[in-house]
Amino acid sequence: MRLDKFLCDCNIGTRSQVKDFVKKGFVQINGNTVKKSDLTVNESSDLIYFKGEKLTYRKYVYIILNKPTGIITATEDKKTNTVMDLIKPLPVKDMFPVGRLDKDTTGFLLITNDGDLGHKLLSPKYHVDKTYIVTTKAPVTEADIEALCTGVDIGDDKPTLPAKAKLLEDGRLELVIHEGRYHQVKRMLEAINNEVIALHRSSFGPLNLDNGPESGSWRELTEDEISKINIR
Ligand code: URA
Repeated sequence: MRLDKFLCDCNIGTRSQVKDFVKKGFVQINGNTVKKSDLTVNESSDLIYFKGEKLTYRKYVYIILNKPTGIITATEDKKTNTVMDLIKPLPVKDMFPVGRLDKDTTGFLLITNDGDLGHKLLSPKYHVDKTYIVTTKAPVTEADIEALCTGVDIGDDKPTLPAKAKLLEDGRLELVIHEGRYHQVKRMLEAINNEVIALHRSSFGPLNLDNGPESGSWRELTEDEISKINIR
């Protein structure tokens, strides 16, 4: 591939920025400073350094962020901090959050540059289970659990699909859904005349936060986790 594409893919900068960096002599290939950004490089065998730091080409990167409250799920925003601001520096370009958690929701958020997998994970066809731990305003009754498990009317054309719901020992509700409608959990609780006080996503498909990261932190998925989530 061309050197400028390689540098862009490593998220060094835009096409014009990386051209400028190369001209300024910030890039070495196999020990030699290069000045031309249209050179062809071998991304697996050439040793490419930017400002003295070795660059490694990676096609796909998968990150788990344990989202704290107060930041929005978006790639950029002029006023509010986004989930992407917590991951610095981004190891590759074109990373995006898979799905969306509300500003006040915490927990598991997958961030990747693998567009194909991201779309599949969000598609209703693949039925990826999402587990939420819900702190509710009023206690949840057995009748409520039954209603959530059957499906409730949240004001859309169709009721929600059957969910799995159970009461935890501490009184919070564990709710597993595989749809991803807008504000779905909050609207499901409203449908049973209750209200969400705090919402935490503890798992997403086969992955969970049991091995971290802590709230506000992120880590890359392990090889094992990547193979579990890869539904190509
Ligand atoms: N359902 C909600 O209402 N909010 C979220 O953030 C996620 C699911």
